[in-house]
Amino acid sequence: MSTMPPPPPAAPTPEPHPHLRPVPPVTPPLPGARLSARGLVKRFGPTTALAGVDLDVLPGESVAVMGPSGSGKSTLLHCLAGILVPDSGAVTLSGRGLHDLDERERSLVRRRQYGFVFQFGQLLAELPAVENVALAPMLLGTSRKEATELAARWLASLGLAGMEDRRPGELSGGQAQRVAVARALITGPEVVFADEPTGALDQATGTDVMRILTETTRLAGASLVVVTHDAGVAAWCDRRVEVRDGRVVADVRQQAAR
Ligand SMILES: Nc1ncnc2c1ncn2[C@@H]1O[C@H](COP(=O)(O)OP(=O)(O)O)[C@@H](O)[C@H]1O
Ligand SMILES: [Mg+2]
Repeated sequence: MSTMPPPPPAAPTPEPHPHLRPVPPVTPPLPGARLSARGLVKRFGPTTALAGVDLDVLPGESVAVMGPSGSGKSTLLHCLAGILVPDSGAVTLSGRGLHDLDERERSLVRRRQYGFVFQFGQLLAELPAVENVALAPMLLGTSRKEATELAARWLASLGLAGMEDRRPGELSGGQAQRVAVARALITGPEVVFADEPTGALDQATGTDVMRILTETTRLAGASLVVVTHDAGVAAWCDRRVEVRDGRVVADVRQQAAR
C-alpha cells in the first residue's frame, strides 16, 4: 500500500475581496423622520468637509446647523439638498434614497419637495417680485395666471402687498428675503433649506426675517434646516446641531423663540 503524501501546508487565509468586507453597522433612518442622513462623507481633494454625519429631521421641525466657518455646514446642506453627491453615505427624503435617483429625478425633488432661501436671496434681478415667486409653481406646470395670483397672495401674507412689481434692486434686504421666503414656500415643500439667510442683514431685520421664516414654515408644516454661525438665528429653531471639522458634536432640543 502506498502512503498518502503529507498534506500541503495550509495556505494563509486570504484577505476578503473589498466588496465582501463587513461594512460598519449603519443605523436605519429614524422611523417617521422626513429627512435622514447616514454616514455622509464628502472630500474636496485633500480636505474632508464631512467626516461621517448622521442626522434625522422630523416633519415640521426646525433645525439650526451651527459651527465656525469651514466646519462643513454648507457642504452638509448641499448634500441633504441633493446639490452635491456625497462620496459615501445616504440621504433619505420621506423614505426615498436621494442618491439612488438620477440627476433629472433629483432636480424634480428639489423643485417639488424642497424650498431654498440663501444669504442674498438669489432672486432674478430683472424680474418683478411677483414673477420671482410665480416662477416656482410655473416650473411645476401651474399656469402663469394661477401662479401669479398665488404669488400675489403669498407676498401679501408676508407683508409685501403693493410691492409685487418691484424688482429685487428696488426692495430692502429684508423685503427681498421675504420674497425669497414666499418663493421657497409657494410650492408646498416638505423641507426648506436656508444657508445664512440673515447673513447680509442688520440685526433687527435679521430677527424679522427669522420670525417670518420659522413662522411660515411651521404653518405650512414644512421642516426647516437653517445653516448659521449666529446663535441669535439658531434661537428661532426647535433644535441646534453643532458641527466641527465635518462631524456632529452636539445635538440639543430647545424652546424656539417666537
Ligand atoms: N467646492 C469646494 N472645493 C474645495 N474645497 C471646498 C469646497 N467646498 C467646501 N470646501 C472646503 O470644505 C470645508 C467645509 O466647507 P463648508 O461646508 O463651506 O463650510 P462652512 O459652510 O461651515 O463654512 C472647508 O475647508 C472648505 O474650504
Ligand atoms: Mg457656509
